[in-house]
Amino acid sequence: MMTKARTWFSALSTVSLLTICAALPVHQALADEPGPVEAIEFDPAKAALGKRLFFDPRLSGDTELSCASCHQPELGFTDGQALSDAYAGSLHFRNVPTLINSAKRAAWFHDGRIGTNLNDVTRESITETYSMNMDMRLMQERIKQDPVYIEMFEAAGFGEPSNGGVRNAIPEYLKTLISRGAPFDTGEMSDEAKAGYELFNASGCNSCHAGERFTDDLPHNIGVGDNPDIWATPERHITFVTMMKFLGVENYMNLRADPGAYIRTHTADTFGTFMTPTLRELTYTAPYMHNGTLATLEDVVAFYNAGGGDDENKDPRIKPLNLSETEQAQLVAFLKALSGEPLTGPDFVAEDIDTDYAPIENWQDATN
Ligand code: HEC
Ligand code: HEC
Repeated sequence: MMTKARTWFSALSTVSLLTICAALPVHQALADEPGPVEAIEFDPAKAALGKRLFFDPRLSGDTELSCASCHQPELGFTDGQALSDAYAGSLHFRNVPTLINSAKRAAWFHDGRIGTNLNDVTRESITETYSMNMDMRLMQERIKQDPVYIEMFEAAGFGEPSNGGVRNAIPEYLKTLISRGAPFDTGEMSDEAKAGYELFNASGCNSCHAGERFTDDLPHNIGVGDNPDIWATPERHITFVTMMKFLGVENYMNLRADPGAYIRTHTADTFGTFMTPTLRELTYTAPYMHNGTLATLEDVVAFYNAGGGDDENKDPRIKPLNLSETEQAQLVAFLKALSGEPLTGPDFVAEDIDTDYAPIENWQDATN
């Protein structure tokens, strides 16, 4: 088995390659009036398998973490913390993003560094030290032991359990996580929220938060302040330094600010830009921003009202809004009206995963 340090090296060099290949997404034409998030077609057998895998801690090196440890259904598939946990002995320096509607994105992570597909995001999430630290070969052997997986992989058309099957099935499950039932879509917005929607458009929020998911899928700098916990907690700082080194960021040892999407271009004007997040399901996903520094939606609106943060790269559209207390409350009411039904029923959450099966005798020679 590889040592932990070597897993870092090999996995992160793949990331750098992907980063080089990931071009900035082309700006898409956006519909004038955002509507409900359109469902995506999915294969039910593959998605059912993906769901079980998503909730299965056996996909992590020490069998302690599943995808759902950090992406918890009742919290809009986030973890409720400012900064994410990571594999035992390590901690992350970013906030966990929601996975609802994530299958519709063009580029993933707060810096948009993976611009290919969810299959790659899944591989990254399973293998990296900052998440599940799993060797895919070991994972394959583990899931092959479980008779339920043998059946489910077969039913999904993947043949015997494989890495490729896992990397296809989890994205198929992610396609099922689509927003539904928000008052904004069902015509049940309060008058307060309707007034907030007017203010949202009048304040230019819709120039970045546009379309059915309320995002342009592009990075911008709005001047979000620092989260000092990243530099004060060695486990987070080490994750930051290591990742920046392997993403080829100059001066990574002395850096005391998250460069964001700068890692894709290495041009000074992109330093501190982060992907515009969706505004769907915000009532479940606090705290906010790439580093979790704003605790509530009231805080976010107050931040924009004051003209955002202080940063030399700040987008010129972020300016003081001079909204009254009442208007700020209306804007918050509108943002809340973009949250729908929680995705916590059996369609989205795997029932208890039964791991009570007998070991396969002579498993190294057995075929399945
Ligand atoms: C230890 C916590 C943790 C675990 C476990 C974890 N994630 Fe994440 N996930 C994160 C964090 C943190 C980010 C944001 C990282 C960044 O921006 O650099 C993220 C980002 C993502 C994104 C990108 C979302 C977006 O909109 O950009 C997807 C998709 C995702 N994770 C899927 C998964 C899947 C699938 C698994 C299981 C195979 C998984 N994650 C396991 C913490 C975790
Ligand atoms: C120039 C583009 C732009 C404009 C204009 C803009 N935003 Fe944002 N918004 C962003 C970006 C980028 C982020 C993420 C920043 C980060 O993580 O550091 C963000 C984050 C947010 C978040 C936090 C979401 C989360 O899940 O963390 C909310 C809420 C939000 N914006 C609401 C608004 C409102 C309300 C307005 C208008 C007053 C507005 N935005 C105007 C680009 C913009």
